[in-house]
Amino acid sequence: MPFPLTIAEAPYGSSLYSEMLALREKILRAPLGLALTDADKRGDADQIHLAAKIGERLVGCAILVPADAGTMKLRQMAVEDGFQGQKIGQKILAYAETLARTKAYQRIQLHARETAVGFYERSGYHTVSGPFLEVTIPHREMEKSLSL
Ligand SMILES: CC(C)(COP(=O)(O)OP(=O)(O)OC[C@H]1O[C@@H](n2cnc3c(N)ncnc32)[C@H](O)[C@@H]1OP(=O)(O)O)[C@@H](O)C(=O)NCCC(=O)NCCS
Repeated sequence: MPFPLTIAEAPYGSSLYSEMLALREKILRAPLGLALTDADKRGDADQIHLAAKIGERLVGCAILVPADAGTMKLRQMAVEDGFQGQKIGQKILAYAETLARTKAYQRIQLHARETAVGFYERSGYHTVSGPFLEVTIPHREMEKSLSL
């Protein structure tokens, strides 16, 4: 990588947030023949948007959503084509976990595409549900305890 990877929160409504919407659309919806819906974006204003950049280039994103007193949910994890398989997703997960821990959350939950279950397992997440359909494809609920 020509520049180091930086991961930071992106303010809702910022130009970086707009770039993240485009990345979510490109990586998470277009390959399924879908578009981001209003439901996908509902709540974005109150959620924590994580942007991974190399220099000025957005290369990955994820969103954290407080769910209950002890639980943070992670959604919309995506790494740009051409940058996948370079540990960027793993670093976004680690950043999200540190942030959630700092805010005293005890666990992270997420809906993983079945094709991505192995990715989350590599970072210590385990499956807590059977398969269910979301955005037309099978998913599993997964979680990770943040206690040290
Ligand atoms: C899934 C995704 C977020 C992973 O990010 P990434 O930057 O490509 O993955 P990383 O390089 O950080 O991978 C970390 C580890 O997980 C493994 N891994 C990555 N993707 C995997 C997958 N789909 N299945 C199984 N293992 C996977 C890697 O081999 C690596 O293992 P290692 O530590 O033994 O080397 C990314 O590939 C992506 O955006 N895919 C398309 C959209 C998607 O599926 N998003 C997830 C929605 S739930």
